Amino acid sequence: MNDLSQMLADVRRGMIPAYVYNDEEVFKLEKEHIFERSWIFLAHESEIPEPGDYVVRRILEDNFIVARDEEGQVRVMFNMCLHRGMQICRAELGNASHFRCSYHGWSYRNDGKLVGLPFHNEAYGGEDGFSKSGQSLLPAPAVETFNGLIFANLDPNAQPFREFLGDFAFYLDFYTRQSGDGVEVRGPQRWRVKSNWKIGAENAAGDSYHTPQTHRSVVEIGLFREPTGAKRKEGALYWCDKGGGTTYKLPPGTFRERLRYVGYTDEMIDRMESSWSLEQKRLISDDGFMISAATLFPSFSLVHNWPKVDANADDDEVVPFITMRVWQPISATETEILSWFIVDKNATEEFKEASYKGYLMCFGSTGMFEQDDVENWVSITSIAGGSMARRLLLNSRMGLTSADKPLNTPLADFHGPGLAYVGYGEFNQRALLKEWADCIERPLDQKEQLAMGEKILASGTKGREK
Ligand code: FES
Ligand SMILES: [Fe+2]
Repeated sequence: MNDLSQMLADVRRGMIPAYVYNDEEVFKLEKEHIFERSWIFLAHESEIPEPGDYVVRRILEDNFIVARDEEGQVRVMFNMCLHRGMQICRAELGNASHFRCSYHGWSYRNDGKLVGLPFHNEAYGGEDGFSKSGQSLLPAPAVETFNGLIFANLDPNAQPFREFLGDFAFYLDFYTRQSGDGVEVRGPQRWRVKSNWKIGAENAAGDSYHTPQTHRSVVEIGLFREPTGAKRKEGALYWCDKGGGTTYKLPPGTFRERLRYVGYTDEMIDRMESSWSLEQKRLISDDGFMISAATLFPSFSLVHNWPKVDANADDDEVVPFITMRVWQPISATETEILSWFIVDKNATEEFKEASYKGYLMCFGSTGMFEQDDVENWVSITSIAGGSMARRLLLNSRMGLTSADKPLNTPLADFHGPGLAYVGYGEFNQRALLKEWADCIERPLDQKEQLAMGEKILASGTKGREK
C-alpha cells in the first residue's frame, strides 16, 4: 500500500488509486475497519419460514447458523462448537431441532442451547462438575431485520441498524415490500469470481454509463424494448445516507400506467398502491422514475429490470424481476457472490415463473448481464495488481466540473430522500468510496486497539526471543 492518508485524500476527490482493487494491505484494512463492524446481509426470513429451518452464511471467515427456533424467533449463532471448535452444522440449509457436533457429539438446540453432552457424568462429573445450563452457541453480536432482510454486525457497539440504514429504507421498500405480506426469495446462487468486491458494489450503486457499451449485445438480441442508452441517460442517480442507486425514466402516464409499462399486473399494482407511502408513489407517478440497481454500503446490492422474457412476444410484453446479492470478499482478488431472486409473496405462480426466468436470463451465474460485467471486473482486478497500477489514479469524477461542482444541479422536485441528479455521473461511486474512506479512517474502538496492540507486542517479543 502506498501512503494511507494520500490514498484516502485521492479517493475523496474522485481520483482512485488503481491498486485499491488489488492490494493485501488495503484488504486487511477493509476486513478490520469495514467488514468487522458494518451491517452485512445474511439471509431473508422467507428462507427459514418454519421452526427448525436454517441456512448457513458467513461474514468473512466467520460462519453463522441462521435458524428459526421452536418459538419462531430468528437466531444467528456462531457455527463453532463450544468444546474444541468443530464447525457444528456442515450443511448449507435444512431443518433441524438440534445440531450435533460430529467431533465428540455435543448437541445444541436450534436456539443454541447446549443440551447434550456424551458421558456427562463420567467425563465432567455431571451437572455439579460442569453445568450445561447457561451454555449456548455464541450469538452474533448484533442482529436486525428490515422487511424480512436479516443483517448482522460483528461489532457489539455498532450503530443501530435503522440509524445506519437511514432514509435509504425509502428505496429498499420498492424491492422488498411490494405488498403488506412482503416478498419471498429463491436462491441464493453462490459462485466465486476473481474480482475485487468493491468493483461490483460500485457498479450496482451507480454505473448507468457502462450499460450501452458493456451490455450492447443484450440490447442487440432484442431483450429490451428501448435503446438502453436513452433510458439510462434520462434516468436519475440518487444517494441517500448509506446507499444509492440508479433509476430509469418512464414514458408519461399515471402510477398505474407506468407500473403496467414495466410489466406489473393490476392486482400487483393494487398491493403496491396500498403498501407504499404517498411520497414513494409520487417518485413513480409525478417524477416518472423507476428504481433500477442500487447498493447499500458496503456489500449489499439490488437490481430491478424488465426484459422481454418471451423472445416472440410483442415489444410491450415485458416481465419485471428483482434480485439482490451480497459481495462476500474472499481475498483482495476474489469475491463470492450470493444472488437471490425476489418476488411479491402474493404474486400468481404464473408471474413468479416468468419473473424468475427473466432473472435467470439476466443475472445469476449464467445471466447475460453477469457474464458481460464480470469480464470487466476480473480484468480490472488483475491489472490493478501490477507495479504500474501503483502510479495510476483512476478518473472517477464524472458529473463534476474541475472546480468540484456538479455539472447539473440536483433535482429540486425529486420525491425521494437524499440528492438526485439526472444524466450520467459517478456521484454514487464517489459516495460509496467516501463511506469506505471514512470507515477506514475511523479508529478501531479502544478495546480492539488494545487487542491489536497486544498482538503487535506479542509479535515483537517473539522477534526478540529469536
Ligand atoms: S469439538 Fe464439538 S463435541 Fe468436541
Ligand atoms: Fe452491468
